[in-house]
Amino acid sequence: MFELSWISHDDPLVRDVATLRHEVLMAPFGVSRDDNWGDDDPNSFHLVALQGDRVVGYSRLIRDSDSAQIRQVAVAFDLHGSGIGSALMAEMVRRALELGLAAVFLNARLTAVPFYERLGFTTVSESPFPYGRTGVLHVRMEYRPAPG
Ligand SMILES: CC(C)(COP(=O)(O)OP(=O)(O)OC[C@H]1O[C@@H](n2cnc3c(N)ncnc32)[C@H](O)[C@@H]1OP(=O)(O)O)[C@@H](O)C(=O)NCCC(=O)NCCS
Repeated sequence: MFELSWISHDDPLVRDVATLRHEVLMAPFGVSRDDNWGDDDPNSFHLVALQGDRVVGYSRLIRDSDSAQIRQVAVAFDLHGSGIGSALMAEMVRRALELGLAAVFLNARLTAVPFYERLGFTTVSESPFPYGRTGVLHVRMEYRPAPG
């Protein structure tokens, strides 16, 4: 089992978050560790998945004027397929709606597109583009709740 928790940028768990982000998102592409993720950005909200005191998942919600971006969705390799990623995403979307934001978007690695599609996101960019520190191909995806 796991639990979700919103944490602040100066929570001690952020050190473990940095390790997870590197292991899951960067190391597989040979990108060297750099923990400068701008965690103290005042518009960023940090969500962790915990198993006991182990950080097993992470994602960030970044508030814009009327929308929110989800970034850095990462689940520990040994727990892929355990429902943690889906739970992180559901909580991110719930929080965005609670903040009154009209849409949620993200840049998805091509390998993760089916995962996001299952959660109701649709691809809105015309063609894949290299993105972020890894430069791997991404597409922009959006989730817009039905009106009412
Ligand atoms: C993508 C990721 C966040 C998904 O998290 P997860 O905890 O493994 O996902 P879940 O267990 O909630 O999966 C939900 C469903 O989506 C499926 N799924 C998960 N990742 C998938 C993928 N890459 N392609 C297709 N289906 C996928 C699962 O099989 C599961 O299906 P099921 O309900 O029939 O079993 C995780 O695999 C991960 O950290 N990947 C590496 C980093 C990454 O790509 N992050 C996204 C960057 S945009």
